[in-house]
Amino acid sequence: MNRLIIASNRLPIKINKSEKGMEVIPTAGGLATGLKSYHKGNNSVWIGWPGIMPESKKEEATVTSLLEKEQCLPVFLSEDLIENYYDGYSNATLWPLFHYFTEFTEFRDIYWQAYKTVNELFAEAIINNAGEGDTVWVHDYQLLLLPNILREKRPDLNIGFFLHIPFPSYEIIRVLPWREEIISGLLGADLIGFHTYDYARHFISSVKRLLGYDVDFNQIKLENRQVFIDVFPMGIDYDKFEKLALEVQSKPIQERSKEHQDIDRFLLSMPDRKLILSIDRLDYTKGIPERLKAFRYFLQKYPDYREKVSLIMLTVPSRTDVEQYQNLKNEVDVLVGNINGEFGSLNWNPVIYFYRSLPFENLIELYSSADIALLTPLRDGMNLVAKEYIATKVNHKGVLILSEMAGASKELGEALSVNPNNIEATADAIFKALTMSDDASEKAIKAMQKRIKRYDIHKWASEFVQALKKTIEKQSDFHAKKISAKLKSKIADEFSKAKSKTLFLDYDGTLQRFFGNPQAAVPDADLYDLLDRVAEAKNTELVLISGRDKETFDRWFGERNYNLIAEHGAWKRERGTEWKERKPSHNEWKEIILPVLESYVDRTPGSLIEEKTYSLVWHYRKADIELGALRALELVHDVSNLIINQDLEILEGSKVIEVKVSGINKGTAATEFLYENSTDFVMAIGDDWTDEFLFKELPETTYTIKVGTGNSVAKYYVDNYKDVRMFLENLITTK
Ligand code: UDP
Ligand code: G6P
Repeated sequence: MNRLIIASNRLPIKINKSEKGMEVIPTAGGLATGLKSYHKGNNSVWIGWPGIMPESKKEEATVTSLLEKEQCLPVFLSEDLIENYYDGYSNATLWPLFHYFTEFTEFRDIYWQAYKTVNELFAEAIINNAGEGDTVWVHDYQLLLLPNILREKRPDLNIGFFLHIPFPSYEIIRVLPWREEIISGLLGADLIGFHTYDYARHFISSVKRLLGYDVDFNQIKLENRQVFIDVFPMGIDYDKFEKLALEVQSKPIQERSKEHQDIDRFLLSMPDRKLILSIDRLDYTKGIPERLKAFRYFLQKYPDYREKVSLIMLTVPSRTDVEQYQNLKNEVDVLVGNINGEFGSLNWNPVIYFYRSLPFENLIELYSSADIALLTPLRDGMNLVAKEYIATKVNHKGVLILSEMAGASKELGEALSVNPNNIEATADAIFKALTMSDDASEKAIKAMQKRIKRYDIHKWASEFVQALKKTIEKQSDFHAKKISAKLKSKIADEFSKAKSKTLFLDYDGTLQRFFGNPQAAVPDADLYDLLDRVAEAKNTELVLISGRDKETFDRWFGERNYNLIAEHGAWKRERGTEWKERKPSHNEWKEIILPVLESYVDRTPGSLIEEKTYSLVWHYRKADIELGALRALELVHDVSNLIINQDLEILEGSKVIEVKVSGINKGTAATEFLYENSTDFVMAIGDDWTDEFLFKELPETTYTIKVGTGNSVAKYYVDNYKDVRMFLENLITTK
């Protein structure tokens, strides 16, 4: 892999214009704070919005050169775009929706248009800076369309995407008017990473339900590529936090910062004084009012702790132009005032409240001094603050109370876990933290430190980049088998020269697209025309070979001059002759299996049974995609137990399970056909599992071609049924 380009809305720094000139300020928020350590140590370039709208070309040049020093490149956005893309679609549509705040979610076309424009602007900036085969790592919900825009414009790029916020359940994402566009946008990536398994499984479920793609474990099978999904819980720069915490701890009191001395004075002013800390952007997802209510309840329920415990609450201003954030600010101001008014005294402020961001050193001081961290988001993709707090506890003294709704709770199992909506339980957790033995808290801290030290930000980023590299290798294995233009003309050339030729073509998914209702997949006029011409080509035997029942095949193709093999080879009709059965029926087994399949139809709405001469088929293409897949597994298990020692087998096709008399498959039927009609050019094209019999059993010299991605013994791939039609057209028109 060549150079790495990071793309995110927010850069690790922003530029502010003040009286002194342009200032470079670090940005807050997990994405920027986490990723910047990795960025620094690597030869990467970071493309994003610098947080300023330059007023002249000169200013633009100054900003650009300030960013260049930090290996950053700007995407400048106008006021209008910031209003509609950033405040609008990003933070009033996607952010609330993805955090389950549907009541705050706004659907406005003007937002959507701006969102598309900005994603295009990012693509342009990346394309102007990306060399052949470079890797682009796109981050977060502001740029969900970017992977696919890049894929279309620059297929040579390796594209990774990481989502820093939750991916919500299908029931939530389905309300978004632009849901298909958003998911297709993401699927332009080769690898998509999430913080937790839950987010990944929600995404996969939405892909299946909204776009109908097949998924094999963590691989989404698009027509011409595969997209890999994986879980990478983001870490922190552990060593940096640990080192600074050690420095802070060893500093003599008089050398500490003013802020730290204030904290010390507060703690020392009374024996047993304890400090509870919370740090977040002022965001409604962070559960700040609920936390304050829990703290108030704690002071009511445990009055002995009054005057002894304070909550230091650092809230960093965020997205201040969005209405919900302004309302939240007012709500928090009032709550803090109420609590301090009700419980405070001349010597004691129950809540010490800051509404600003703090320099990094001060953050470390706060973390180091706090006895308890109280982090209670209602929803949070990860919550790096929790990990930072643990990393700074170099003396192993401290307790973390963490919301079970934060992604970090999956890794920090030793924390006191709370449901942030349960005010009483949160108050009790504060009490528990205050009364926890040193031994117990030390053990918990050490266990968590060990885990987050191992999987730190460097490991996180390098694992992602490594996984992306592997994904691309797998992608290129796949592309190596993809039928090239050169090979196509070689095959056409051989075809035109061969004395006798046979083409075995599957029907559904190969010559025709899939329909919800299999009976709707009637051949269209173009297909008839094409197949007629193939069948009439000189010295050519066209064999349509399918799992379809013979009646349907007869209705569709009975009048045509094609060879037909139906029901996976149970029936054949050589052209100009009658249908012949390939094996005498023994069908007593159907009486046992049919009731089992019927019970699956009863319990799986949308599924149905089809009876064929030698088989019973359970179709579930129209059933709920996940229920169908689950029931298919159960069904195979149940039926396998019933058919032991019977001359039967189970075939798993595309959204069908077929129980059939064994020995009858497309492979044996095709081999028999060749035996009777010797030929010097053979080709077989099919798309599903049942076609693998064909690919396996036909002579080694056969051109075997699979339609679509996925494991196959076929020698080559094409993308879809349209490519098959084009390929056949080319075959018969090449002279
Ligand atoms: N942070 C900061 N300055 C502050 C307060 C916090 O840079 O004054 C950082 C904090 O250290 C953490 C990040 O902001 O790295 C917040 O990340 P988190 O994942 O907790 O929440 P997010 O803001 O991404 O929702
Ligand atoms: C969260 C998001 C980031 C965002 C950060 C700060 O961490 O996941 O994408 O950068 O909040 O928000 P802001 O709107 O200031 O960029």
